[in-house]
Amino acid sequence: MTVKTRVSQLIAAVSMLMLLTACAVSGTEGQVSSDPATETEEAVASDDKLIEVGFSQLGAESDWRSAHTESMKSQLTEDKGFRLLFEDAQQKQANQIMAIRTFIQQEVDYIVLAPVTETGWETVLSEAKEAGIPVILVDRMVDVEDDSLFTCWVGSDFKMEGMKATEWLYQYTRSAGIAPEELHIVNIQGTIGSSAQIGRSQGLREACENKGWDLMQEISGEFTQTRGREVMSSMLKLYSNLNVVYCENDNEALGAIEAIEAAGKKPGMDIRNGEIMVLSFDGMNPEALQYCAEGKIACIAECNPDHGKRIATLIHSLENGEQVEKYSYISEEIYSGSRDVTQLVLKGRSYPVTFLDSSEEGKVDFVTGD
Ligand code: AHR
Repeated sequence: MTVKTRVSQLIAAVSMLMLLTACAVSGTEGQVSSDPATETEEAVASDDKLIEVGFSQLGAESDWRSAHTESMKSQLTEDKGFRLLFEDAQQKQANQIMAIRTFIQQEVDYIVLAPVTETGWETVLSEAKEAGIPVILVDRMVDVEDDSLFTCWVGSDFKMEGMKATEWLYQYTRSAGIAPEELHIVNIQGTIGSSAQIGRSQGLREACENKGWDLMQEISGEFTQTRGREVMSSMLKLYSNLNVVYCENDNEALGAIEAIEAAGKKPGMDIRNGEIMVLSFDGMNPEALQYCAEGKIACIAECNPDHGKRIATLIHSLENGEQVEKYSYISEEIYSGSRDVTQLVLKGRSYPVTFLDSSEEGKVDFVTGD
């Protein structure tokens, strides 16, 4: 903790004590009430010590995103020392750029950015740098040449998520005696140009190339249930041999399942008997988890939205003048209702598959494999 921080905390604590005393006095019958002007001054003084954070969230397209927003809002609170200015960009980069410029004008202490896509950030991040405001990236990445334009990043290894889902598919089909050339896959991608889409699509492309799977089409479902349903419905009309759909998030998977069922087909793992296997990402929507336990979704590579606490800790460390990690990857699991694959080994590391059990009505249990 810096001397400056200690002193300002002391001043704030004294101000708070005075303010509490003043409130107690004014609230006591028969006592003289305190001067309202002094009260306002004291309130401002204690308010001043809050760390002002402008957070530009990219939108509210999925259940994951809502959970992410909730995680951030629940940690960047006044009782934890923050004043949060929150802006929802409704999936538009232009809105995010506008929000960042407003945060700069407001002279916030930190800007936190969850970028909708990776490119197009140089100018506005340079403006923040010139204004001396540290920028922390959360969830997705930006593609900039100069990495001093942001202080640090917290998020997921999206390509690894794709590798987990495809390795699970490889092991499952191999154990079921399904040959690689029997797999006919469609990828319902996320928002094109977002880190989550880039990493997950790349994971699938590489697996298709290495394993000899047929990747018939890649098409965006924009991370939403509605688009997932629409896109899947047209894919089913186009490809009668489609037997695996790789959905880049759970909302798309829920939409795809609606389309599969509406077309009179069955989502499931028995592709030899006409079922369509659904693979997905996220793992925090209760319906998707239930479907995974039942086998309607074959496997879900978790994407963990719980970034709030890490962001709060990072900001406190920066306030204390500490060095922070430039990149922090959040830990994530892989879920399936099938016990056929118990563990994945990727890049020399082993990942146990967490088994989802739905034996009790409406309740999903997580059982970690070995
Ligand atoms: O960037 C994370 C992705 O964005 C999540 O997988 C998806 O659900 C969200 O909209």
